[in-house]
Amino acid sequence: MTAMPAIILGLESSCDDSAVALVTGDRRVIAQAVVGQNSAHQPFGGVVPEIAARAHVEILPALIEQVLADANIMMNDVDAVAATAGPGLIGGVMVALLAGKGLALSAGKPFLAVNHLEGHALSPRLVDPNLDFPYLLLLVSGGHCQILEVRGVGNYRRLATTIDDAAGEAFDKAAKLLGLPYPGGPAIEELAKEGKADAVPLPRPLVGSGEPHFSFAGLKSAVQRAVASGDFAHEDIAASFQQAIVDCLFDRTRLALEKSDAPSLVVAGGVAANQAIRNALAELAKSRSRRFTVPPAWLCTDNAAMIAWAGAERFGTGERDALNVPARARWPLDDGAEKVRGAGVKA
Ligand code: KG4
Ligand code: ZN
Repeated sequence: MTAMPAIILGLESSCDDSAVALVTGDRRVIAQAVVGQNSAHQPFGGVVPEIAARAHVEILPALIEQVLADANIMMNDVDAVAATAGPGLIGGVMVALLAGKGLALSAGKPFLAVNHLEGHALSPRLVDPNLDFPYLLLLVSGGHCQILEVRGVGNYRRLATTIDDAAGEAFDKAAKLLGLPYPGGPAIEELAKEGKADAVPLPRPLVGSGEPHFSFAGLKSAVQRAVASGDFAHEDIAASFQQAIVDCLFDRTRLALEKSDAPSLVVAGGVAANQAIRNALAELAKSRSRRFTVPPAWLCTDNAAMIAWAGAERFGTGERDALNVPARARWPLDDGAEKVRGAGVKA
């Protein structure tokens, strides 16, 4: 008789999405739900930490109840509880972390404190059973823009990072300049469909430089000037901006591929929901004879299935965390990575 695959309950609240999921060790998403808070933050053009934390307190418990009910599963049937313990907005992180600890404690189940970035990093393996370690990961989200070699669960080597803004942050800032709602990525992608990608001359910071790092601050300033000039249609600015990001990600990842023997290229994080970026990197992987995996858009933006899955991977290797594990605002995947000149400290 084969053992039943483990059932992991995953909880996430590190930014502005409250999320709960039930995922099995054999890659089945039994049930999942995400509740965003876009309307609460939209008037401010970005996430307000205090508002986010309070909203998680209101949303998360009912969401846990709902997901368990949808799946017709009781806490007793769950094998372990996984919750994001960072990095992120600390007030929000504490909500899912403490809820997870409480559930594990009351149901007498093992607890796993998951690194949100590891959730993104391992998410492609939830949908691609043939994706083996090592693989090269372009991790592009609202707070991070990194290229990592994923060598195994918990084993990461950072090849590149951003020296200023993250890619998602660049989308959000450009959207604000264009008067588009938060989050900026989906809004810019939509508007870009009506514009010409070569209409506005914009820079490609660091493209061609010898290390595969990223920089987007200069691009944002150029968008600011383009908007202020009044010379360009907003859809053309959106399309040209998106193309500039695509070109930067493509060039930097191309260089990183030269520095890694990993047979697969993977893209994850909220920005990986962008179709132009997915297409460009698929083409890059093909031209370099690498396998390519990108999770579906719902698994790219913040969700709890990726947290449950990272929990399942770690549960499978016998890992467990103590109930006194702390919440962490900063938690790099590669602790040993060198500081890069100009790199700001971002959660
Ligand atoms: O991974 P994520 O949901 O949250 C973080 O961990 O940061 O990423 C959110 C970021 C936001 O900056 C958002 O604008 C961006 O991902 N994003 C996109 C798209 N969808 C979300 N950027 C470009 N195109 C998209 N379709
Ligand atoms: Zn994220």
